Amino acid sequence: MHVTVVGTGYVGLVSGACFSEFGHNVICVDKDEKKIAGLKQGEMPIYEPGLQKLVESNSEAGRLSFTTDLAEAVKDADAVFIAVGTPSRRGDGHADLSFVYAAAEEIAGAITGYTVVVTKSTVPVGTGAEVEKIIREARPDAQFDVVSNPEFLREGAAIEDFMRPDRVVIGTESEDAREVMRELYRPLYLLETPIVFTRRQTSELIKYAANTFLATKITFINEIADLCEVLDADVQDVARGIGLDGRIGRKFLHAGPGYGGSCFPKDTLALVRTAQDAGSPLRIVETVVDINAKRKQAMAQKIIDACGGSVSGKTIAVLGLTFKPNTDDMRDSPSLDIVPALIAAGAKVRAYDPKGMDEAKHMLDGVDWCKGAYETMPDADALAIVTEWNEFRALDLDKVKDLMKAPVMVDLRNIYNPDDMAEAGFDYICIGKSKVSAAG
Ligand code: UDX
Repeated sequence: MHVTVVGTGYVGLVSGACFSEFGHNVICVDKDEKKIAGLKQGEMPIYEPGLQKLVESNSEAGRLSFTTDLAEAVKDADAVFIAVGTPSRRGDGHADLSFVYAAAEEIAGAITGYTVVVTKSTVPVGTGAEVEKIIREARPDAQFDVVSNPEFLREGAAIEDFMRPDRVVIGTESEDAREVMRELYRPLYLLETPIVFTRRQTSELIKYAANTFLATKITFINEIADLCEVLDADVQDVARGIGLDGRIGRKFLHAGPGYGGSCFPKDTLALVRTAQDAGSPLRIVETVVDINAKRKQAMAQKIIDACGGSVSGKTIAVLGLTFKPNTDDMRDSPSLDIVPALIAAGAKVRAYDPKGMDEAKHMLDGVDWCKGAYETMPDADALAIVTEWNEFRALDLDKVKDLMKAPVMVDLRNIYNPDDMAEAGFDYICIGKSKVSAAG
C-alpha cells in the first residue's frame, strides 16, 4: 500500500517508520525543510530509542522517503495520515486545530482516486467531520473517506507501542475505508491485536478518555502518597496492594512529581473544555488538572523544606529535567516549575540531564549546567532527583556524600530504598513515605 504521513513530529515519524517496516511504501511530508533535509541524511529531529535504525533500514530498502512536496506525496496514496500538532490554544486550553485544517485543505487539492484520509493527531470529537467538510467543499468530485485512528504510543517506548499495541482503534462507518485500514494493519491483525471498529466521533473520544483516565490514575496515587506521608504509610506498598487487583491493574500507579509531557497536560485540559462546551462537564478531570498543576509547585516546597525551610544562598543539585526518562522532551515537565521556584527562593541550581539539556537551556534561566551527575554535587546542600533516568538509580552513595556539603536527598521518583539511604548516611525524603534520617 502507498501511505503518506503529513507531519514528522513524534507520532508522524514513528508511524511512518513503522508502516514502512510493515512493508508499505511510505512518504513522510513536512513543511520544515531543515527537518526533511536532516531526515534524508538519517538525522532524527527527536530522540527516540530504535527510531534511527528503523528509519535508516527502511530508507535503504526504498520503502521510506521524505519530502516537503505534499501534493506529489498525496497524489498516489491509498491512505494519507494527518499527524500534525494540536497544541493547546493559548489562553483557554482548547486544542488548536489550525494545522490539521490547513493540512486537510492541502490534501484536498492533491487527491486522485479513492483515498482514505486518516486523523492520527489527537483531535477533539467532531474534527473528522470538519476535515471531511473541508475536503468535500474544496473538491466536490473527490472520492475519499475520513477515518479516525488515534495513536497511543508513549515517548521512549514508541516503536514497541506501535508494533505491539494493546489495541488499534479505527473510527469510520465506511466499509471501503475499513478495508484499507485492515490492509494497513494486517501484520498486527495476524498477531491477534484487537482492532476496535467504531464510529468516528467515538474513536476521537476514546483517545481523550484513555489519556485522561491514565492522568486521573496517576493523580489518584499522588494524592494517596500525600496521605501516606501524613499517616506514616507506604505508597509503594499501597500501589502494589491495590494494583494486584486485576480490576485496578498495576500500571500507572507510580507516585511522583505530577504528570507532564506532550499529551496528558494538553489532553486533560482539552477534554475539560470540550465537556464544558457540550454542557456535560467532567468534574473529576477538572479536579485532576488543578491538583496536578499545584503538585508541581508543591514539589519545590518539598525540596525547600528538606533544606530546613529556606534555600536562600544554598546550592541544590538537580538530576533529571525531562518529563520522563528516555526522551529529550521537556514539554510540561515538572522541572519547569520546580527549578524556577527554587531559583526564585534564592537557591543556586546545578543541573544535569542525559538527553534533555539542549532543550532545557532554552526553557530555564539561571541554571548552572553540568556535564554529568556527579558534577552537580560539589558543595550541594541537597540533591533532588526529578526524572528517573537509569543512570541515577545506582549512584555511588559514598562518593555523593563526600561531594555534597550536606547528605540530603529528595527523591521525587522513589528510586532508592529509605532504609538503605539511612544506612548510607543520608537524610532521605521521597514521595509517599516517611522521611528517614541518617542512621546513627
Ligand atoms: C502518554 C500515553 O501513555 C500515551 O498512550 C499517549 O499516546 C501519549 O501520552 P507519554 O506522554 O509519552 O504517553 O508518557 P507516559 O509514559 O504515559 O507518562 C506521562 C507522564 O506521567 C510522565 O510525566 C510520567 O512521569 C508520569 N507518570 C506515568 C507518573 O507520574 N506515574 C506513572 O505511574 C506513570
